[in-house]
Amino acid sequence: MPETVIINDVGPRDGLQNQPRLLTPAQRLELIEALIAAGLKHIEVGSFVSSTAVPAMAGTAEVVTGLPAVAAACYSVLIPNMKGYELAKAAGARSVTMVLYGSEGMARKNVNMGKRRAEEVTAEILQHARQDGIRVSAAIAVAFECPYDGPTDSAEVERITDAFLQLGADEVVIADTIGAAHPGQVRALTTKLVSRHGSERLSCHFHDTRAMGLANVFAALESGIRKFDTSIGGLGGCPFAPGASGNVATEDVVMMLHQMGYDTGIELRALVAAAELAKNLTGTAPGGRAKPWLQRFLQR
Ligand code: COA
Ligand code: ZN
Repeated sequence: MPETVIINDVGPRDGLQNQPRLLTPAQRLELIEALIAAGLKHIEVGSFVSSTAVPAMAGTAEVVTGLPAVAAACYSVLIPNMKGYELAKAAGARSVTMVLYGSEGMARKNVNMGKRRAEEVTAEILQHARQDGIRVSAAIAVAFECPYDGPTDSAEVERITDAFLQLGADEVVIADTIGAAHPGQVRALTTKLVSRHGSERLSCHFHDTRAMGLANVFAALESGIRKFDTSIGGLGGCPFAPGASGNVATEDVVMMLHQMGYDTGIELRALVAAAELAKNLTGTAPGGRAKPWLQRFLQR
């Protein structure tokens, strides 16, 4: 039996939040449906954030309401604070991703809150979520480097991971928000975290700004990480992290994993169709490096 790696496509959130072209909830659902058709079961479908801060994510409630009912699907939404949690719950979301910070500068720019305050709020959200039966993922932004404060102390990322797994978070995501990490760093951190906690509740999120996205996925995979955030067509970038480009492309990661003998449950032909749709909808999705090759290969 091949080993399974879980791919969580964050394109409909991380990918779309920074696009110049704003998509309607119906268009966002069309992209989500294309991902479902490709076999993706884990999808970050939007965020409940201020629509002044991130206009592209206005209407996430409508997206959540319109999600197709698919067996074993895990749809999540990103939230920045307690209000986001309440809005997500009211819309019927069953899984939320709350953002924590490796640096003070990023916390202030992103949510106008101190990083310790974001941790306190997350601890409160965990208590509510337990009663509400909502799954909580805690994502540590700028886990390797911050565009404002420089390199992140990995001891700080370890502290936050330990604390939130202890508090009962369903998952901690180590996020290289600006795509600044290199595989040596990733290997060192993820090896430590996996040896301490196992891999069941850990995930990694890499941006591909400096072309190290795939190498970083590989390094984390070698450490035992078996869940990754990726973005269809390599869409993405954070409006509050200048210079950051999209997440590592779903098609690149899936192709690599399949070549290495891992099972993702994803069908490449339909995945390429979803990447094509992402490009048509946004006009910007560059597409992963694997896409042109896959298009030629799959035509044969
Ligand atoms: N969703 C929607 N609206 C929200 C909200 C949320 N999660 N949290 C606060 N608001 C609203 C408030 O109700 C208030 O509305 P009003 O002006 O109509 O009264 C307004 O936003 C300002 O609220 P305040 O608490 O003063 O927030 P702020 O101005 O300090 O901004 C955030 C804080 C968190 C709302 C904002 O910075 C934000 O949405 N950041 C998200 C950034 C993001 O998505 N980054 C990329 C992903 S990591
Ligand atoms: Zn990201």
